Amino acid sequence: MSDNQLIMGIETSCDETAVSIVKNGREILSNVVASQIESHKRFGGVVPEIASRHHVEAITLVIEEALEQANVAFEDIDGIAVTEGPGLVGALLIGVNAAKAVAFAHDIPLLGVHHIAGHIYANRLVEELEFPLLALVVSGGHTELVYMEEHASFKVIGETRDDAAGEAYDKVARTLSLPYPGGPHIDRLAHEGTATIDLPRAWLEEDSYDFSFSGLKSAVINTLHNAEQRGETIDPKNLAASFQESVIDVLVTKTVKAAKQYQVKQVLLAGGVAANKGLRAALEAAFLQMPEVKLIIPPLSLCTDNAAMIAAVGSVLYEKGKRSSYALNANPGLDIES
Ligand code: KG4
Ligand code: ZN
Repeated sequence: MSDNQLIMGIETSCDETAVSIVKNGREILSNVVASQIESHKRFGGVVPEIASRHHVEAITLVIEEALEQANVAFEDIDGIAVTEGPGLVGALLIGVNAAKAVAFAHDIPLLGVHHIAGHIYANRLVEELEFPLLALVVSGGHTELVYMEEHASFKVIGETRDDAAGEAYDKVARTLSLPYPGGPHIDRLAHEGTATIDLPRAWLEEDSYDFSFSGLKSAVINTLHNAEQRGETIDPKNLAASFQESVIDVLVTKTVKAAKQYQVKQVLLAGGVAANKGLRAALEAAFLQMPEVKLIIPPLSLCTDNAAMIAAVGSVLYEKGKRSSYALNANPGLDIES
């Protein structure tokens, strides 16, 4: 790698307009995130049309801000990395077109990046990756165990068959009348309560690394409704604690099992739900028992959507000589293994 490789990352797959400049794949020079959460809150979730509109308004300003904070100009940038999918198509399109325009205008190589690869590579901004490794990806749209034998090579060994972990958190939070996004609120309540309510854990088949959270989500909703019908009240803190315990139990057990089977050197935690205090603590406790495996957990600012993680993947693609053409398009169903 050249001494001063500079990659600009652009991320607009959901409700954050984010641009970052990363040096040599690991050093963040700027990481600007314009969040739209306040605009979506009153609808209880992300409204795609509103997301696109905000991205259009913000993207140019966020790009300028990222360059300014990093104290660099377009002429210094070696590659423009952009999330091409998965995500909301209208939202992705804004980032992809902004990236293409900048790449074309300044003759800079264009690098299409998978959003989940980005979440995984957030860890490389914390510590150098060592292979083989396993990443537990837990976000609003994804729950996956990803095995990596080398840079930019991803094999999904387990994934959710229905709701993603974050989605289950958000739906349970909604049932408890908590604001969007609900994950952090459930996390907070869970720490104030006790797991007194017996909730299911979907282990699935003995040898499967897949996940399922819709049964658990329904069990929480049923527990609340049944209590309501009987005129009883359930302490939301205890319900949150019981739900969180069930989610974490399955995530940690399957991650530990896969780490052993695949004999990985590192386990990485990735995605918005990686901000969960209970999950972080449970993984730390589990891997304390396995000193041969290094657990990496990014700081909260790198767990939620950001563009530094996209630039981190872009850096690796750039080094590998991968380039996207100007035909690059938003791909909401992009496959990480392709
Ligand atoms: O990765 P992310 O920022 O966006 C997607 O790519 O989906 O993840 C957002 C998800 C939301 O479902 C949110 O509720 C969840 O991450 N989340 C949490 C916590 N913080 C964010 N879930 C549980 N506990 C948290 N502390
Ligand atoms: Zn994400």
